[in-house]
Amino acid sequence: MKFFIDTASLKEIQEAQDLGVLDGVTTNPSLMAKEGIGGDQNVKDHYKAICKIVDGDVSAEVISTDYEGMIREGEELVKLSDQIVVKIPMIRDGVKAIRYFSERGIKTNCTLVFSAGQALLAAKAGATYVSPFIGRLDDVSTDGLILIEDIRTIYDNYGYETQILAASVRHSMHILSCAKLGADVMTGPLSAILSLLNHPLTDIGLAKFLADHAKVNK
Ligand code: E4P
Repeated sequence: MKFFIDTASLKEIQEAQDLGVLDGVTTNPSLMAKEGIGGDQNVKDHYKAICKIVDGDVSAEVISTDYEGMIREGEELVKLSDQIVVKIPMIRDGVKAIRYFSERGIKTNCTLVFSAGQALLAAKAGATYVSPFIGRLDDVSTDGLILIEDIRTIYDNYGYETQILAASVRHSMHILSCAKLGADVMTGPLSAILSLLNHPLTDIGLAKFLADHAKVNK
């Protein structure tokens, strides 16, 4: 399973990269705004800075909601680095734009996916990644993991190569469940990745090992 970090914070991306388990980054307009990144050149410079930290794919989201605008923006974004994946919302013009980019060998991430039907459409359009937002489904009392399971079944039935990028991941159980269900990638905050580390028996065991070592190494 690939681990992406879902943030525009260079500090957090560096921290995840230093841990040695990072495969890529996803951003969105809200995450960019949270870091105070606005203005065309600043946004582009920020994506370039992210690409310098991490080796893998970096999703950069278009703001346009019309086909021509998405194509224009996406073509500008991919000039920044060959790591850039054009992130496109699951709307009618978005599907057309995904088809346009996939025919030209440009990677895409179809975002804001909340149903298996949308995921099927994304795969048919040739998306590299599909991003079902499991946390936001959980927020409205709908089990996001069932969506991951459904998409996995559909993609396996027909051999679609679109990778399932479980998004809106909030905690370690989301990551584990997505791994069990066969999601190809998960994207979440650094806190969710780090929470995989925790087990009280590890802490207790390490304290005992160190105490025993100290007894005979005074
Ligand atoms: C996905 O690519 C989105 O950036 C993200 O996972 C949304 O997560 P949120 O629901 O925690 O905002």
